[in-house]
Amino acid sequence: MIHPTRRNVLGGMAALALARPARAATDAAPILRAEPGRVRLAPEGYPETDIWGYGGTAPGAGIRARQGDRITRLFENAIPRDSSVHWHGIRLPNAMDGVPGMTQPPVPEGGTFLYDFALPDAGTFWYHPHLNSLEQVGRGLTAPLIVDEAEPPEVDADLTLMLNDWRLDAEARIAEGWDDLHDRAHAGRIGNYMTVNGRPVDSHAADAGARLRLRIINAATDRIVMLGTFGLRAHLVALDGMPLADVAPVEEVLLGPAQRADLIADVAAEPGERAYLTMLERDGAYEVLRIEVGGRAGAALRPAPAPLPPNPVVEPVTEGARGVELVMAGGAMGRMGEARTADGILRPMGDLAQRGLVWSMNGIAGMAGEPLTEIARGETLRIRMVNDTAWPHAMHLHGHHFREVTEAGPGPLRDTLLMLPDERREIAFAADNPGDWMVHCHMLSHQAGGMMSWVRVLG
Ligand code: C2O
Ligand code: CU
Repeated sequence: MIHPTRRNVLGGMAALALARPARAATDAAPILRAEPGRVRLAPEGYPETDIWGYGGTAPGAGIRARQGDRITRLFENAIPRDSSVHWHGIRLPNAMDGVPGMTQPPVPEGGTFLYDFALPDAGTFWYHPHLNSLEQVGRGLTAPLIVDEAEPPEVDADLTLMLNDWRLDAEARIAEGWDDLHDRAHAGRIGNYMTVNGRPVDSHAADAGARLRLRIINAATDRIVMLGTFGLRAHLVALDGMPLADVAPVEEVLLGPAQRADLIADVAAEPGERAYLTMLERDGAYEVLRIEVGGRAGAALRPAPAPLPPNPVVEPVTEGARGVELVMAGGAMGRMGEARTADGILRPMGDLAQRGLVWSMNGIAGMAGEPLTEIARGETLRIRMVNDTAWPHAMHLHGHHFREVTEAGPGPLRDTLLMLPDERREIAFAADNPGDWMVHCHMLSHQAGGMMSWVRVLG
């Protein structure tokens, strides 16, 4: 069986240009700039689109590093809004978490902020602003952050697939309407044009029998995606950057906003055929990744991949652990009659809606002045999440990965949990990272509409 040469593989990666950062970040930190850009998003025949992106592209070029490395970047804000960088899923010191008003001041247009932190975990992560996130992510400010294992599994190609969901008008301009209350109270700002690495489809060549690592990142503001494989024999090896202890074959992967999945996929299609990763929609399957299969017929597939080496995450101990409840309410067809705003005032629904608030968590709409709870460093916190709404929510915790607590035992380590309407689920995590950490819905329209809170891990 012939595998793509290293040169081919690197050629295939060029689109993403995930360059390893310079070894010594001691002198001047490399610059990470959020800036306006103009890119071809829509098919030929349409105009190019004005976006905001890291380095002026959408998604941004991304950062690639090795587990244990430090990331040092001088963030420069060149967009006409206050901004920040949140390193989604990275277990970093609180001051580097990029949450304006909580961990750092907002970075104004023309301002800078130095991010400098170590990478404890290998895996597939990403970064995005954490202020006015719906508009800033919706205009393109997203990029992959890929952290390689000390000894990465052997694959013929390592492909990052960042999915973005755009709402474009007939001239391929990004539609305004970021405050739209209808979006906020329903499934969020669902776009009308999806891209993968900024293009309608990503395509690569690989031989029959070749082994691909696919790092899929759902960077959509609000859309849940269901992915399907065709002509690939895929195994799910990591979720939200964290390796799974048990590697299982999969044909479909469901990703809520901000969630990631790593697949190790062997090309099972024959030479001359195509293999695909697709997005499964009600009206059919849309290509995300197209593999033009070459090589020799009848290539044998390799044995199932071994699990990736685990990351050094402290396990939660649920026995006797403190528990808190997090009740989500509101949204269209919801039962939220009133809620408190950050100032502590109880307000009726109409008053809240005028402020753009249509959701609450534990009776509070918008960022609460008080944390959901405080927890001593080293203890385990259990959060019982009650989705008392008619909508799904992608619940994200900063600074830690958690496990779901289920009757069948602990779930995989994750940083974002997709909850369906009326579900009740419980998560637990070892609170080993001191600071104030947000817990919020990663459907960014819902977050803007009030679904956010925080926990304090005492130092
Ligand atoms: Cu991906 Cu609070 O963020
Ligand atoms: Cu939500």
